Amino acid sequence: MPEQQNRTNASSIAIRAIPLLIVVAFVGLFLTFVGPAGSLPAQAQETSTAQAVQQTTVGAECRECHAASHDRNVESFALGVHGKSGKFLKDWRATKCDSCHGNAEKHMGSGKPEDIINPAKLPSAQANATCLSCHSGDQHTFAWQGGEHDRKDMSCLSCHSVHNAKSPEKLLANFTVEETCLNCHKEQRKALFQRSTHLFRTEQRNMKVGCSSCHNPHGGEGRKMLVNHSVNTVCYTCHAEKRGPFLWDHPPVREDCMNCHSPHGSNNPKLLTARAHLVCQQCHIHMLPRHSTTAGKPLDIWSINRGCVNCHSQVHGSNHPSGRTFGR
Ligand code: HEC
Ligand code: HEC
Ligand code: HEC
Ligand code: HEC
Ligand code: HEC
Ligand code: HEC
Ligand code: HEC
Ligand code: HEC
Ligand code: HEC
Ligand code: HEC
Repeated sequence: MPEQQNRTNASSIAIRAIPLLIVVAFVGLFLTFVGPAGSLPAQAQETSTAQAVQQTTVGAECRECHAASHDRNVESFALGVHGKSGKFLKDWRATKCDSCHGNAEKHMGSGKPEDIINPAKLPSAQANATCLSCHSGDQHTFAWQGGEHDRKDMSCLSCHSVHNAKSPEKLLANFTVEETCLNCHKEQRKALFQRSTHLFRTEQRNMKVGCSSCHNPHGGEGRKMLVNHSVNTVCYTCHAEKRGPFLWDHPPVREDCMNCHSPHGSNNPKLLTARAHLVCQQCHIHMLPRHSTTAGKPLDIWSINRGCVNCHSQVHGSNHPSGRTFGR
């Protein structure tokens, strides 16, 4: 046996070590997920326990005092997205209590609330700076600064709650995106009840087209914090058939869908800003060679039902060779 061992060269030791290395790697992985409770050989457990405790219980030192049943912040934190980032991320974005609450040393000694930072009690600019220290590079939040909500001095905490979130995701302070927004935007709430609405809801009141389908509440690329650089590009994401290209274009459509439609809701059919013929007559009030466009009696062909669209049915543009006047 000793002779055999002497003859073994370095490379065959390396080959024999591979299965061992794989086993070690799997035990390590297993421990990270199962934590110290897993039943494993004492030695392996000892080395990884220290690591696992450090990884799983963000804020272990706070539990001493913040473990009461009414104070679920600390308990639930590890299960939230920030707690998990503390466990799984290895870079500067791994979130610990002090990422948002600052140095807790003095507070740990005194137990006084005034000795620790509570972001909810800071001026909004300061609270936001805390959040943006990690989130300013994110795709959805990078445009925050200068957005309308920022200019109105709003805080991230107007819409988000880190510990007491009510929504299943995105840490919102309210149950849904819409409830979050409609708290302040009363004018948009009425759209839910109008004859024509974009804000479709299921029986469970889940919105199918929601505020964040069109807006980025953190500040978007276009005017009115839209998710895209112009109104039309936002609309084309769902109504692609209106993009064209058309043989015969109707200039107001190309310019801006808002020339004729309101985005949220309307008491006219098809989200129109006014009754169909009035929409057209905002621009077409001339006496034309073919026909007058100004209505006479309230029930004549220009004003009843779909008005001008009775005949000019392809108002968004036509690909028919003789569709110059959008009749086909
Ligand atoms: C010695 C006990 C003790 C320890 C340890 C402790 N706290 Fe507290 N903490 C308190 C008490 C008491 C309060 C005030 C009562 C309350 O709000 O529940 C408090 C309040 C707070 C508040 C609210 C402050 C405010 O102005 O509303 C925060 C935030 C906080 N603690 C964070 C922490 C963090 C983070 C840790 C761990 C790094 C920690 N605490 C450790 C006792 C403690
Ligand atoms: C991502 C930022 C962030 C992290 C990380 C964080 N907190 Fe908080 N904490 C807040 C904010 C914001 C509030 C204000 C209330 C809210 O938004 O839910 C708060 C409030 C609190 C309060 C006051 C009670 C309350 O609900 O208002 C306590 C206690 C607290 N945090 C403890 C902790 C402990 C302990 C940890 C670590 C396990 C921790 N926090 C990690 C942001 C954070
Ligand atoms: C006006 C309300 C509002 C404000 C203010 C707000 N948010 Fe949001 N935030 C939302 C909504 C709504 C969502 C979910 C968007 C969705 O459903 O696509 C969200 C999502 C997020 C997400 C997840 C993005 C993703 O890609 O999934 C992050 C991170 C975030 N917000 C951070 C912040 C930070 C940081 C601030 C402050 C600088 C802030 N938010 C201010 C409403 C707001
Ligand atoms: C130390 C870094 C750090 C800080 C500070 C921080 N976050 Fe986060 N946050 C993260 C990481 C990491 C994630 C995980 C998702 C990701 O990779 O972006 C996250 C995710 C989120 C999400 C998305 C949740 C989801 O369900 O998808 C929201 C919303 C959010 N943070 C809001 C905030 C708010 C509000 C603050 C300030 C009170 C804040 N964050 C402070 C690191 C941070
Ligand atoms: C805490 C109150 C508040 C909440 C919550 C809120 N907003 Fe606002 N929002 C404002 C204020 C204030 C303005 C500035 C204009 C005004 O006074 O109406 C504004 C402006 C806007 C504008 C117009 C931007 C512009 O350039 O004129 C849009 C779009 C908007 N909010 C969308 C949203 C969406 C989407 C949500 C939900 C994710 C939301 N808001 C939640 C307060 C709020
Ligand atoms: C189908 C896309 C769409 C949806 C969904 C949508 N919006 Fe809008 N919103 C727009 C467009 C487009 C404008 C810009 C109108 C304009 O510039 O004439 C706008 C404008 C606004 C404004 C500014 C109003 C003004 O007069 O300046 C607010 C506030 C607003 N939206 C809030 C919301 C809220 C809250 C929700 C969810 C309940 C929502 N929006 C859902 C497309 C949408
Ligand atoms: C997230 C997808 C989405 C976006 C973005 C979107 N829409 Fe819609 N829109 C819908 C859906 C879904 C319907 C309902 C279709 C149906 O009933 O067949 C609809 C219906 C409509 C209707 C008919 C309403 C009615 O009462 O029949 C009009 C008009 C309309 N959208 C215009 C727009 C305009 C203008 C924009 C850009 C501001 C826009 N849409 C952006 C999804 C969207
Ligand atoms: C010149 C006025 C005008 C403009 C601009 C306009 N529309 Fe319309 N739209 C109408 C009229 C009128 C109707 C009703 C047609 C009917 O009753 O058949 C309508 C109906 C719709 C409908 C529902 C019926 C259908 O054809 O699917 C959608 C969706 C729609 N428009 C989307 C858009 C989009 C997206 C834009 C911008 C690219 C836009 N509209 C621009 C006048 C306009
Ligand atoms: C915001 C102004 C505006 C609105 C609203 C508008 N149009 Fe137009 N329309 C135009 C312009 C500009 C032209 C191009 C005129 C030209 O090429 O000489 C045009 C062209 C037309 C043409 C073709 C005329 C020709 O000589 O080729 C028809 C038909 C027409 N519109 C019908 C309608 C109908 C129907 C409505 C209502 C659903 C409507 N328009 C709403 C601005 C508008
Ligand atoms: C009963 C059907 C009908 C109705 C309703 C109607 N039109 Fe026309 N319109 C026509 C026909 C047919 C033409 C000629 C088409 C052609 O020459 O190809 C025309 C042509 C036009 C032209 C182009 C005129 C020219 O000489 O080049 C415009 C602009 C126009 N209509 C606008 C309107 C407006 C605005 C309304 C609503 C107030 C309206 N139309 C309602 C049938 C109608």
